[in-house]
Amino acid sequence: MSDPILTVEDLRVTYGRVEAVRGVSFSAAEGSLVALVGANGAGKSSVINAVSGILRPAGGRITFEGQDITRTPAHKLVGRGLVQVPEGRQILATLTIEENLQLGTWHSGADGARSVDAMYDRFPVLGERRALPAGALSGGEQQMLAIARALVAGPKVMLMDEPSMGLAPKIVDEVFRVIEEIRASGTTVVLVEQNARRALRAADHGYVLQSGEVVHSGPAAELLADERIVQAYLGVESGT
Ligand SMILES: Nc1ncnc2c1ncn2[C@@H]1O[C@H](COP(=O)(O)OP(=O)(O)OP(=O)(O)O)[C@@H](O)[C@H]1O
Ligand SMILES: [Mg+2]
Repeated sequence: MSDPILTVEDLRVTYGRVEAVRGVSFSAAEGSLVALVGANGAGKSSVINAVSGILRPAGGRITFEGQDITRTPAHKLVGRGLVQVPEGRQILATLTIEENLQLGTWHSGADGARSVDAMYDRFPVLGERRALPAGALSGGEQQMLAIARALVAGPKVMLMDEPSMGLAPKIVDEVFRVIEEIRASGTTVVLVEQNARRALRAADHGYVLQSGEVVHSGPAAELLADERIVQAYLGVESGT
């Protein structure tokens, strides 16, 4: 097997005296979908933010395509193909849909206009409303915009933090369909979800985080088949 496109070793993240991530290791094979799951406060966003260069880790080592990126800032990583869709979408509500998408092309060096047009083909609702403020979109449409904004950067690895949060079940289905398409196109996906079952169903490999540590990991199907893991960490979920 080839080397993983992304490797995280013994990652530590602290906020003052709070140790949010305490020695997390995981890797993602090229073209795979890896799920990081766990309860509120488990450290999922902290891991993702450290990997994407938004947070500076207190310790550990992150490699992307064989190169150390532990201290590389986010804007440089975007240009190299490591792109995050942040928790809570963080679209710019007063800018138009088109302007939001153009922002996604800033650091990428990609052909901006062409990749923005490609997103209008893929997400027609964004094309129809390109001149409207992004704040006029529904929650599900805003999530699609956030995903599209990451895609225009031409990611090799896409990090997604809770893309299904706060969305109606039908829209959650749509978001997961898009995630699976992204993965099918060859992009590696690291998916953080509280909707653990759903994320593991879509994933090749899973990691269960608790209190800043990986407490279980393995092929996603094996985690889902392990009754003790399901009971202890995956909890009761509605309808999925
Ligand atoms: N900016 C911050 N300052 C201080 N503590 C923080 C900060 N951000 C996160 N924490 C703490 O770090 C721990 C991990 O938080 P993190 O946001 O990474 O968890 P999470 O798994 O993403 O949770 P959620 O599912 O609620 O998004 C929590 O105890 C949280 O309170
Ligand atoms: Mg989070």
